[in-house]
Parts: sequence; structure tokens; C-alpha cells
Amino acid sequence: MDSKSKWNSKYKERMNNLKEPVPNPRLKKQSDFLKGGTALDLACGLGGNSLFLARKNYQVHAVDISDVAITFVRDKAEQDHLKIQAQICDLTELNHTFLVNQTFDIVVISYYLDRALFPMVKNLIKVGGYFFMETFFQSQMHGNQGVSNQYKLNPKELLGEFKDWDILFFEENEQEGVQTIFCQKR
Ligand SMILES: C[S@@+](CC[C@H](N)C(=O)[O-])C[C@H]1O[C@@H](n2cnc3c(N)ncnc32)[C@H](O)[C@@H]1O
Repeated sequence: MDSKSKWNSKYKERMNNLKEPVPNPRLKKQSDFLKGGTALDLACGLGGNSLFLARKNYQVHAVDISDVAITFVRDKAEQDHLKIQAQICDLTELNHTFLVNQTFDIVVISYYLDRALFPMVKNLIKVGGYFFMETFFQSQMHGNQGVSNQYKLNPKELLGEFKDWDILFFEENEQEGVQTIFCQKR
């Protein structure tokens, strides 16, 4: 099954029992830095982070491969009068016209790993803007968590990738097997 069909069927199932999508708790903890502006949420899913950022005064561009998720985010944004532009997009097939001439005050990637996106992400963020990312990493303590190593960060990988940025928060949570970074472009 391809990625789109897999996620569409997961989200269709979740629709039956869906509560309000919640933001990533470690993103929420950075609230003091989040002063509004423009935001990009890559692989946004049901939009917990997008909805949170929109409520913090960001104009959000949210993208995901799943049309079920994007329809949900659009409907929710309309219902709650939030500034979210939600777009169906396969991030593996980006071309150079994607978001051309746009820059953002924050880019968020939560539980999606495609290292090919890092150069684009770095360009899309304004000087002084923020990057937040959290996903699984290859921790010593954890088994495979049902996730293949291909979709996991290496230990401390995001620290190395963003070594030229100001690191405002970095954590490897061994219990959860997740790595999180919140950093600011110089
Ligand atoms: C684990 S979910 C994370 C969703 C959301 N960011 C969150 O933290 O709740 C992974 C998301 O990546 C999306 N996705 C998978 N492959 C993708 C692709 N090639 N392009 C865009 N989105 C993709 C899925 O549809 C799904 O919504």
C-alpha cells in the first residue's frame, strides 16, 4: 500500500473517534518564543500543531500527502476561523517551485523524516526564525517501536544538522525513543 492510501485509511479510522487534535507538548513548551508570523507545518497530519500555531497568531501553511487529513484541517480551520492554508502535497516529489519566494517565521516537522528536506527547510526559514522537529531516533533503550531504522534519526543527528543555528532546546528522550530540537536561525 502506498503512503497516501496507508495514511488515508488510518485517518478515516480515527475520524470515528476523534477528539480535538493536540499539539506536540514540547512545541507547546516553547510558547514564550512563539510570537506569531508565518508558519509551515510539513506532514501536518490532522493539524494539532497547525491549529496550535494558528491560535498563537501564525498564518499557517500546512501540507500533507493525505487528502483525508487535509480536508479535516481545512474544515476545522474554517469552523474555528483560523488562518490555515492546508494543501495536499507529496513531500518526496517537491520541485523547486514549491513555496518559491516564501519564507517563514517557523517550520515544524513532527514525526516525519525525510533528510532531503533539510536544505529546503533551512532556506525557507527567516533569519531569527525557528525550526522545531521531533521524531523517533535509534535509542539504546528502545526496540524498533514498530518503526524501521530508515525512519529514525541517528543519535544527536539534529544537533549536527543544525550545528550553525542557536539551539534553544534539544532532548533525546530514551523512554519515548524520540529526539527533539527547537533552534533559531542566525
Ligand atoms: C506520524 S504522522 C505525523 C502527523 C503530524 N505531524 C503529527 O505530529 O501528528 C506522519 C504524517 O506524514 C504524512 N506523510 C507521509 N508521507 C508523506 C509524504 N510523502 N508527503 C507528505 N506527507 C506525508 C502522513 O500522511 C502523516 O500525516
